[in-house]
Amino acid sequence: MLPIIAIDGPAASGKGTLSKRIAAHYGFAHLDTGSLYRAVWLSVIWAGGDPANPDMALAAAIALTPQSAILSHPGLRGDDAACAASKVAAMPAVRAALLDFQHEFVANPPGGKGSVLDGRDIGTVVCPDAPAKLFITASAEVRAERRVKELRGAGQDVSLDTVLADMRARDERDSQRAVAPLVAAPDAFLLDTSSLDANQAFEAACEVLRGRIGLA
Ligand code: CDP
Repeated sequence: MLPIIAIDGPAASGKGTLSKRIAAHYGFAHLDTGSLYRAVWLSVIWAGGDPANPDMALAAAIALTPQSAILSHPGLRGDDAACAASKVAAMPAVRAALLDFQHEFVANPPGGKGSVLDGRDIGTVVCPDAPAKLFITASAEVRAERRVKELRGAGQDVSLDTVLADMRARDERDSQRAVAPLVAAPDAFLLDTSSLDANQAFEAACEVLRGRIGLA
């Protein structure tokens, strides 16, 4: 089996930035699994459908392939997309269809060396046998401040209170859903990035990975 690094955590915990950096460092392929759920939502909207309809969401999930152009569409990036994604993500059939996509990715990662997947259920459901698992956390306030900075940087006019409230609602939905809830795998290393910048988080993660899978 090729090496797999599983990185989970709530919104704006820093897992996306960290995952990209780890993948680049080891020459592994990176899959942002949140973009799959976001893409399912946007595909249904583009088709003129209702993402709350499980049949429509499932059809969009089945049609998604690694070549789908929608996966890099800027329309996926907003907080509205994230909130809507967390609703299709609670549908068991959608999750099952996207599980096939993710298993195919780790079996045949672009570049053929190994993969880094980030999401909510990578260490628990998608790749429970991954040799290296990180669960990235940070306080809700720190995460909301990061997200506000990111969104304002992208030109969006948002308030901290609204972002914090949306984030708490999404955390709640992700943690309470029946299928694949957001939870740390028992064998995941917990990394709290509340007081770490991106460089410090990367150094701390590399330290763990050195110990877990002998990567330099
Ligand atoms: O970047 P951020 O953490 O804010 O969001 P994301 O990782 O793109 O995920 C958006 C939503 O997709 C999450 O709130 C989850 O509901 C869902 N998701 C999931 O259920 N399972 C995953 N492996 C990844 C995302």
